[in-house]
Parts: sequence; structure tokens; C-alpha cells
Amino acid sequence: MYRKKIKIDLLIHDFKVPLAVVQTGITSLLQRREKYGPLTEKQERALMRALRNTKVIQSLVNDILELGRSREGIVGLTNIKFSDLIEQALVEIFDLLDRKTSERIKICTNLPQLKETLEEKGLMLFIEEALWCQGVRLDEAKIRQIFRNLLNNALKYRKSRVELEIEKKDIHLVFSVKDDGEGIPSIYHKKIFESYFQMDITDSYTVRGHGLGLAGVMILVEDMGGELFLESDEGKGAKFLVKLPLANK
Ligand SMILES: Nc1ncnc2c1ncn2[C@@H]1O[C@H](COP(=O)(O)OP(=O)(O)OP(=O)(O)O)[C@@H](O)[C@H]1O
Ligand SMILES: [Mg+2]
Repeated sequence: MYRKKIKIDLLIHDFKVPLAVVQTGITSLLQRREKYGPLTEKQERALMRALRNTKVIQSLVNDILELGRSREGIVGLTNIKFSDLIEQALVEIFDLLDRKTSERIKICTNLPQLKETLEEKGLMLFIEEALWCQGVRLDEAKIRQIFRNLLNNALKYRKSRVELEIEKKDIHLVFSVKDDGEGIPSIYHKKIFESYFQMDITDSYTVRGHGLGLAGVMILVEDMGGELFLESDEGKGAKFLVKLPLANK
């Protein structure tokens, strides 16, 4: 069983190089036209679509490998500024949803500017300036994966508004993602963390996914020694709150 798992992980790992080659090729065609030649508008759109989807596969591959590392108890602590961590996670999300917003996030130079850009998309960011500028020591890849999954869900299931709140409480990082969508009835509060579970798959809007995101989030949070809380009910939106212990500097 263990050998089989390693084989699968290795196979997934080996997707990385060819994917990087595809990504570089498409990026060159798009960005280095003086060398590769001009593009028509239609060609450019097709290449952008190809690039977006290549990025989807790359992030899935990274997520699967990160989950494997997590189960093995491997934690990769790095020092990172909150602002970089959150901006990178937001860019990853919006790269796939709305390229223009992702480009605008990349050029934001301060917190008020970023907040304003996100607000236009119905995403409210609550974090204190002092924390925003602060460095923390944590497993960046895992936290980004948690952020991405919770935020993607909230943006997918919301009516119009999502709130992301980040705080430091003593030795814990506490963050919550709240949306104003249909919510999750309490009978499903455990089930949604099981692999492949989706509520009411007949609803066309739940089909966009695999029912794996939250199962992965739960594994990552548990492996980092954290806790996850869900507050939600039918028709009342959903709030996922994650509490993670911060490592000493
Ligand atoms: N914010 C939310 N509001 C309402 N329902 C939600 C929310 N987040 C998750 N759910 C429900 O929980 C199910 C499981 O979520 P999960 O993220 O694991 O899978 P998914 O989003 O359907 O697919 P993916 O594997 O792409 O993440 C969803 O299909 C949905 O029914
Ligand atoms: Mg999901």
C-alpha cells in the first residue's frame, strides 16, 4: 500500500516538469512577440485560456503533493510577511476567476489600495495594518492551500459578499472566511469534510468541483495542530474559522 502510494506521488510529481515547459512555452508566445511573432486577438485569447488551465493543473499537482507531505508530518516553516502570503493567495485565486482583478492585485502597493480593489469584487478584507506588515513563521504552502480552498468556496457559493478576517491572538493565527450564500444545514456539517461529498449535486451550481477541497483543508489544519470551526445554517451563509498555532521565531 505504502509503495503504491509513493508510486502515485512520484507520478504526480513528474507532471511538474512537462507542465512547467508548457507554461513557459505559452508565456513566451504571449509575452515575447518580438521573438515569437505577432498574435491575432483570437490566438491570444486561446493561449490565455490554455495558460489559465495549465495553472489550474499546476496548482492541483502542488496541492496533492502538499497533502502527501502533510500526512507524512512534514512541515516546511518559512519566514514570510503576511502581506506577501495573502497577496499571493489572492493572485492565485483571481488568476483563474478574473484575470483583470489578479493583475490589479499584483500592482497594489499598500493595504488600503488592496482592500479597495477587493471591495469592488465584493470581497471585504479585515486585517490590522500592524499585522499586515508583520513577518510570521509558518508553513506557507499549506496556509495558501487552506486560504485558496475556503475563499474559492465562499466566492463560488456566495450571493454577493465575502468577508475575510485575519487576526493574531496570542500564539495563534485566527482567520475566517464568511459568505452570504445559501449556507450549510447542520446535518451536513460533518459530511462536507468527507472526500467527494457535495451537497445536492443535482443543483447545477454545485457541480463545479470535486468535493475534495474541504477534505484537504481539514487534513492540513489537523496536521498543523490547528482547529477548524464551521458556523452555518440553511439560508444563513457560511463561516469557516481556522485557528492555527504559530511557530516560535
Ligand atoms: N461556503 C459554502 N457555502 C455553501 N456550501 C458550501 C460552502 N463550502 C462548501 N460547501 C458545500 O460543501 C461541499 C464540499 O466542499 P468542497 O470544497 O470539499 O468541494 P467543492 O467545492 O464542491 O469541490 P472542490 O473539490 O473543487 O473544492 C460543496 O460541494 C458544497 O456543497
Ligand atoms: Mg471547494
